[in-house]
Amino acid sequence: MDNMMDNNKILQTLRTIKHPNHGEDIIQSKMVHNLRINDNQLTFDIKLRPQEDNLKLFLTTACTEAVQKIYPDGKVLINFIKEAKNDFANPLPQIKNIIAVASGKGGVGKSTVSLNLALALKNTGAKVGLMDADLYGPSMPTMLGLQDIKPKIQTVEGKPKMIPIEKYGIHSISLGYLLEAEQAVVLRGPRLGGIIKQFVFDCVWPALDYLIIDLPPGTGDIQLTLVQTIPLTAALMVTTPQDVAVADALKAMNMFLLPNVNVPILGVVENMSWFTPAELPDNKYYLFGQGGGEKLAKLGETSLLGNLPLVQSVREAGDEGIPFMEKTDHPAKEYFDKMVLELSKSLNKRNKQIGETNIVSVT
Ligand SMILES: Nc1ncnc2c1ncn2[C@@H]1O[C@H](COP(=O)(O)OP(=O)(O)O)[C@@H](O)[C@H]1O
Ligand SMILES: [Mg+2]
Repeated sequence: MDNMMDNNKILQTLRTIKHPNHGEDIIQSKMVHNLRINDNQLTFDIKLRPQEDNLKLFLTTACTEAVQKIYPDGKVLINFIKEAKNDFANPLPQIKNIIAVASGKGGVGKSTVSLNLALALKNTGAKVGLMDADLYGPSMPTMLGLQDIKPKIQTVEGKPKMIPIEKYGIHSISLGYLLEAEQAVVLRGPRLGGIIKQFVFDCVWPALDYLIIDLPPGTGDIQLTLVQTIPLTAALMVTTPQDVAVADALKAMNMFLLPNVNVPILGVVENMSWFTPAELPDNKYYLFGQGGGEKLAKLGETSLLGNLPLVQSVREAGDEGIPFMEKTDHPAKEYFDKMVLELSKSLNKRNKQIGETNIVSVT
């Protein structure tokens, strides 16, 4: 029987079939099981997550075509097996760490920290994405200098999906990319949640080491939708040294710590800790008081990961679309790198101690 199928050749040809959502091949992503060959009859199982039910036709066609390319008379029989919900509820399994950047108040530097954190991690060689979840005031188009650029659309299984835009080596999505600059948006709860879900389900996210999520301030529908949609690895809190900022940040932090939400806190970044004028680099002026970051960290039983000074060129860098982490010799970089080092330690510790965060179930 010269036409007998060869196991290695079959595996090789099945490896050419990519999962339409995340692009990993179906062997690599461990979907194929129980491969059996009987003369020219190939039989195997494909495990599907509940939300992947719609992939059956695509997979049947793709697998049959791939096999018949090398064995024209070959027959392919696939048993589709539904994964139990809990094993596989994560819609972004190709992303290793998802970190939400949160605060109580607006204007404390969440977006600045999110973007430069993404860049600092990228500089370590990691693959990084950034989701601008502040739908009330998306900052990323300006901060990344992407005002007039729209994400490309790719049709996956007949459905249009957005491809995050790559700039400075990071992949980002923002509501700002989808709207005209002056377009006013009045979004209420259900619509907000719908857009966040689109950022998860209707985007083709590549395999990433980190996805940083820039949140709006406080605790609202966006935060709730996120914790019900994806497993947040951890949250990072941003505050200024001021007491009012700390009081608000504590409320935002407590939302993550609710027993049924249970997202670990990586630590606190204190931003605008002091002002240093460019012409007096050794002077520090504590415009917003002192100690807020430390205080918040204590209240949340977590640690202060670092401080970022108030520097005029940090603001300028944000406004001109060239983030300070992309500049050489920027005065904020040494503080930021120190903070990111502490953050990495905290994240490693978290990942060693506990498994994946559970997605909050909606009752
Ligand atoms: N350390 C800093 N030094 C100077 N300006 C800063 C600093 N951090 C943030 N800013 C500026 O303050 C404003 C608010 O920061 P942003 O990151 O947008 O805050 P949030 O996302 O919390 O609303 C922006 O114009 C930003 O450029
Ligand atoms: Mg912001």
